[in-house]
Formats: sequence, structure tokens, C-alpha cells
Amino acid sequence: KRVAIFISGGGSNMRALVRSMTGDHPARPALVLSNTADAGGLEWARAEGIPTEVVDHRPFKGDRAAFETALAECVAPHAIDIIALAGFMRVLTSGFVTPWRGRMLNIHPSLLPKYRGLDTHARALAAGETEAGCTVHEVTPALDDGPVLGQARVPVLPDDTPESLAARVLEQEHILYPIVLRRFAGGDRRPVMLP
Ligand code: GRF
Repeated sequence: KRVAIFISGGGSNMRALVRSMTGDHPARPALVLSNTADAGGLEWARAEGIPTEVVDHRPFKGDRAAFETALAECVAPHAIDIIALAGFMRVLTSGFVTPWRGRMLNIHPSLLPKYRGLDTHARALAAGETEAGCTVHEVTPALDDGPVLGQARVPVLPDDTPESLAARVLEQEHILYPIVLRRFAGGDRRPVMLP
């Protein structure tokens, strides 16, 4: 299976996924794509010999459909089987998502269905949650809403800040996402629950 990983920033999840796709793993990284040319993960991917693409969303201003057409055209030549969103910070509409239904994953830094959207850690702390975590789900047109493929839970500590909680969750993202991708690429959609 050929996997495209979409990033917008440092790409720590992308790096964990790339490092996991070795040996008898049914998938290989075939493309790293970013919506911004200055994403730190692009340099790393290039150094790994992985094809990279940039589709800057800014020239399209509010025209999501045009941006998504450019995305689809950019991905097409790479013969991709699975798209893994990993810190990709653009909302994708049904125009892009529907053709990829059942073949696109995302990792979200909360225990969905709680805390869809942004600022998940600050919101969890404000709500007095005693545990938090991350979710890998299939991408559907509704934001952060598709079938759950995996979750990892972490404790919230009394002196946690959004940053300290984010760091604890991110560590689990790097464990969970590779496990889920390996299963998913092998056709197994049973959810992974950590610990
Ligand atoms: C992190 O907040 C992570 O929780 C979310 O995207 C952000 C950046 O991740 N998935 P990465 O380091 O670019 O993978």
C-alpha cells in the first residue's frame, strides 16, 4: 500500500509513521504533502528520499473547492492507496473526502467524541477532565467525526498546563498512529485501545 501523509508543521506524527513502515509492514510512505512550504517535516521527508509536494492554500483564499481540486491533482500521479492526515491544519470538505472514503485517516488530540476542533487540551483542562488522549479515526465530511480506529488515554495531572498535557498526548500519538496504520493497511479495522 502506498501512503500519502499530509502535514502542516513539524510532522512528528509523520516521522513516527515513516519510521514504522519497514520490513513486512504492508505499507510504504510514497508522498509527504504540506499546505505550506515552510513545514519542517518537508525537509526531513526529502532527506529520507520521500517525494514531497506543497499545495499552498493561500492563493485559493476562500475557494475551498479550488484548493481541494489542486490537492487531488497533486496526489493523483503518486498512485496513493491511503492518505494519513498528521497535523494537517486545513479542513477538507466532502469534495475531497468522499472519493477517499474508507481510505483516509486522521489523528486528533482528544478522546473523541469529546473536544472536536481546536484547543483540545485547554478545553479538557478547563472542564476538569481527569484523563485525556488522542484518537485515530477514518475521515468523513463531518469534522473529527468518522469511525474510531484507535484511542490512547493519558492521565491529566493536577499541575498540568495545555503544553504539558499536549506533550504527554503527543507521545501517545506517536505510538498509536503507527499501530493503527499497520492494521488499517492490512485491512483490519478493529479499534486499538491503549493502554
Ligand atoms: C499536534 O498538536 C498533534 O496533536 C496534532 O497535530 C499537531 C502537530 O502534530 N495531531 P505533528 O507534530 O505535526 O505531527
